[in-house]
Amino acid sequence: MTVIEWNDSFSVNVAEFDMQHKKLVEILNELGDAMKHGKGIDELGRIMNNLALYAAKHFETEEMYFNRFKYPEAVNHRKEHATFLTKAAEFQYGLNNSVTLNAMHFLKHWLITHIQETDRKYSSFFNENGLS
Ligand SMILES: [Fe+2]
Ligand SMILES: [Fe+2]
Repeated sequence: MTVIEWNDSFSVNVAEFDMQHKKLVEILNELGDAMKHGKGIDELGRIMNNLALYAAKHFETEEMYFNRFKYPEAVNHRKEHATFLTKAAEFQYGLNNSVTLNAMHFLKHWLITHIQETDRKYSSFFNENGLS
């Protein structure tokens, strides 16, 4: 099940971040597939764990550049990242089918709005600092 289909509206004009965002979308789609095929808690948990680990790695990359270039919107942006990681951990510990549907809804909505709105805000800032 394709939960999110990648298109140019997700591009933030920084190749490294686009690549990481694509990977996040890919893992979310893998979770959607596993749910559709009625996979068990173990498999759902494994994918959810991958998503949380990869998201943490991606956030570290963005935040490293926020520090390097002194991105003025870093504080609020970091808060959104922290919210995602807290929620992802909650979903992992409370895993059952109803939680998984709620989790999927949250993860999908968060990824779309965070990439298309919050992340895209930094595009011109990073481009001006030589990152593209
Ligand atoms: Fe991002
Ligand atoms: Fe971000």
